[in-house]
Amino acid sequence: MEKFQAIVVRQQDEIVSYDVEQVSLEDLSAGEVLIKVAYSSINYKDSLAVTPKAGVINTYPMIPGIDLSGVVVSSEDEDFVEGQEVLVTGFDMGMGHTGGFAEYARIQSNWIIPLPEGLSMRNAMIYGTAGFTAALSIQSLEKMGMNHENNPKILVTGASGGVGSIALQLLQKAGYQNIATLIRKDYQKEFVEKLGAHHIVQTDEIHAASGKLLAKQQYDYVIDTVGGEVTTDLLPQLAYGGSMTLCGNAGGINIQATVLPFILRGINLLGIDSVQYPHEARFQIWNRFALEWDIAEQAHVTEISLQEVKSTIEEIQQGRHVGRTIINMNV
Ligand SMILES: NC(=O)c1ccc[n+]([C@@H]2O[C@H](COP(=O)([O-])OP(=O)(O)OC[C@H]3O[C@@H](n4cnc5c(N)ncnc54)[C@H](OP(=O)(O)O)[C@@H]3O)[C@@H](O)[C@H]2O)c1
Repeated sequence: MEKFQAIVVRQQDEIVSYDVEQVSLEDLSAGEVLIKVAYSSINYKDSLAVTPKAGVINTYPMIPGIDLSGVVVSSEDEDFVEGQEVLVTGFDMGMGHTGGFAEYARIQSNWIIPLPEGLSMRNAMIYGTAGFTAALSIQSLEKMGMNHENNPKILVTGASGGVGSIALQLLQKAGYQNIATLIRKDYQKEFVEKLGAHHIVQTDEIHAASGKLLAKQQYDYVIDTVGGEVTTDLLPQLAYGGSMTLCGNAGGINIQATVLPFILRGINLLGIDSVQYPHEARFQIWNRFALEWDIAEQAHVTEISLQEVKSTIEEIQQGRHVGRTIINMNV
């Protein structure tokens, strides 16, 4: 096969650089299935992958990209056949195993999900890891009793971002009527209202309760994608019996808490991990996107080429990125 295009991240003397390069199949990690990538998507983690000492990439050079959808070119595993449409998110892709920011990817078969009927390769990447994580968060809260019939008050943090914006849309689609969103910039107000936010919360409102062991009970459920001080200040604001999912570290990795909201209000803090989520349980989530959660057409999506990845990653690093960005490998 002739050479093809990929983003390659290199490290030399503790300086990390990345650009589009011509690579060949020998540059791809080992795996049973060769996939012609149709679409990939950009996530917060991809911006960390090109940041020195961020701990995402553990071997250089590396093709980043934690998501891909595409068509099987060849397979040593009989579960996959030439021409089959598939998707992959997470596991070691784009970290220790060459990932989705390339025209071809070679992936081990136990990471690959057959694309469910009714889900296109493009829409699968509109959701990507961000949507998958939003779905896991909502599923986790549903297990704790979240139900639109009770009209709970729900807060989504980082609502302008990938995980937050898809979570917002999924909640709206499910019929929730009392959704608050945490945003930091005025221009994001219109964006989140369009996706389903009923109330806007600014960061100073969240932090007004800072330092209080127990604050006014504001939210029945929280989908927290930010972490750090946001999580710290929200735990004392959860209502009695309330639950909060935590998936993100965009606002920092340290949280402070006392036992009081847990032992006096019976609150629950639920960790969300999309990366190692069991392969066998993944299809069910993707099938929900195909059948029940088909919100891709209403999502805020920017479609770019491989050459434009760098400018999108800079937008994420500078806090200017909104919604979801997908990479179309055929432009
Ligand atoms: N656990 C998992 O499996 C998993 C999976 C996917 C993502 N994640 C994590 O989830 C987080 C969100 O991912 P994403 O792809 O949605 O990222 P994203 O698109 O870059 O969005 C990040 C969001 O966080 C907001 N934010 C950042 N720092 C903040 C702060 N100090 N206070 C309030 N808001 C802040 C941003 O607001 P602005 O627009 O104002 O900057 C933006 O809305 C990341 O930390 C990512 O690593 C985890």
